[in-house]
Amino acid sequence: MTKEKEAWGSRVGLVLAMAGNAVGLGNFLRFPAQAVQNGGGAFIIPYLVCFVLMGLPLLYVEWAMGRHGGKSGEHSTPHIFGAMGGTGWRYFGALGLFISIGICSYYTYIEAWTMSWAWHSAAGHFLGMTQEQVSAFFTNYIALGTSEPILMWVACVALNTWILSRGLQGGVELAAKIGMPLLLLFGVILAVRGVTMTAGYNGAAYDGVVGLNFLWTPSFHSIWDPVVWRNAAGQIFFTLSLGMGSIHCYASYVKGKDDIALNAMSAGWMNEFVEVVLGSAIIIPISIGYLGVDKVVEMTKGGSGFGIGFMTLPYLFTQWGAFFSAAAGIMWFGLLFFAGITSSLAMGTPVMAFAEDKFGWDRRWGAVAFGVSVLLLGIPSVLSQEAFNEFDYWAGTIALVVLSLGEVILFAWLFGMEKGWKEITDGADMTVPRAFRFVIKYVTPIFLLVVFVGSLPEVWTTITKKITFHVALARGLMLGLLAALALLVRLADKRKVEP
Ligand code: PHE
Repeated sequence: MTKEKEAWGSRVGLVLAMAGNAVGLGNFLRFPAQAVQNGGGAFIIPYLVCFVLMGLPLLYVEWAMGRHGGKSGEHSTPHIFGAMGGTGWRYFGALGLFISIGICSYYTYIEAWTMSWAWHSAAGHFLGMTQEQVSAFFTNYIALGTSEPILMWVACVALNTWILSRGLQGGVELAAKIGMPLLLLFGVILAVRGVTMTAGYNGAAYDGVVGLNFLWTPSFHSIWDPVVWRNAAGQIFFTLSLGMGSIHCYASYVKGKDDIALNAMSAGWMNEFVEVVLGSAIIIPISIGYLGVDKVVEMTKGGSGFGIGFMTLPYLFTQWGAFFSAAAGIMWFGLLFFAGITSSLAMGTPVMAFAEDKFGWDRRWGAVAFGVSVLLLGIPSVLSQEAFNEFDYWAGTIALVVLSLGEVILFAWLFGMEKGWKEITDGADMTVPRAFRFVIKYVTPIFLLVVFVGSLPEVWTTITKKITFHVALARGLMLGLLAALALLVRLADKRKVEP
């Protein structure tokens, strides 16, 4: 069988796709909410430490593992890990596919909300509503039995499937080349607006600066709080798409001798710019400008940012008059949409690659298989918020720590740091500081181990708590998915597909 080999079209395309992978809803909704919840300036220090000790080293590791796997024609974590550590590691790598499908199942649902909200903003539906009415509008929208979010969700998954089926260059790379510049443009406009807001103007009670000060005045009061550290580490994972298998997959399409070191840094730092500069200059100054710090802390409880993003901002935008409120709404929800879709595509690619590499599926069928599994797995999250949180907890939080801990041990200790370092620096267009050799071998694994062990008590209380039907359904589906993936890895062993 002859198959055209997939590859990135250009370096710019690769970096944009990787940045698009990382830049997601996590940057604009999760980050500000986490920062506010964990004490503003008190969050930033643990966050930056985690970025340096865990984020940067893992970026190098995942890019290197990906390109290494690509050399032997492997593009998804089960067989990338297998190629480095032996057969058993394939089963561990199946966790990467679990995470991609698991996160995507609820992620695309939120992505669908942004499509609806862009439309409602453009059509001026929020004009003249009070804050309570906008909130109620959202609550009714996601209430059980309304068809709009479900139709939007199906459309959104279909759109993802269609883009994926167009292949790497014509689909993912093109989407990133269109989406990322628009996202940056919208983000900069909204950030300038957020930061320059003045008190008393359009009903704002405070200046945009008040929110920025809250976030950027370093405070040390919670630096010894393990929960703040856990949350900072969790945010670094989520935002950089670490421990998920999507970076490995994208990197596996890089040619054997091409640079990864500089590319990894470009994409990683671009994500941090978008998160720390743009992500914190929109939601926080605008909402705090109108409502004050206390109210915003109250509204971000839970740390997801949905309340502020979907219920409060559309209302605050209406203070800016009919035209600007529509424009701001389109930009804000458009930005969220582009951030979301370039990430959900990154979750789909490894699954498709697995079907193509191991079962010889045409990429169109691979894309359809992914779309169908996302719709199936997403049902509990559509039905209940509790199930949604359950997916986010197991697939979007705990599994990431487990996967990264395993992969860094595989890379630095089994594959070996000697070969590993060569893999990172081969073809590098920058000098990778040698300190990273030490950090990857000792600091990152210990750091991850501490995070992992530290979360065990919470895992224990979570599994021993009495659960509702929806939570049981969510857990059942997740376990079923894990079992199915393990079985597929096993079947793949028995089949040989010509590369
Ligand atoms: N990094 C993305 C975000 O910040 C989320 C993501 C998860 C992307 C899994 C790819 C894979 O929203």
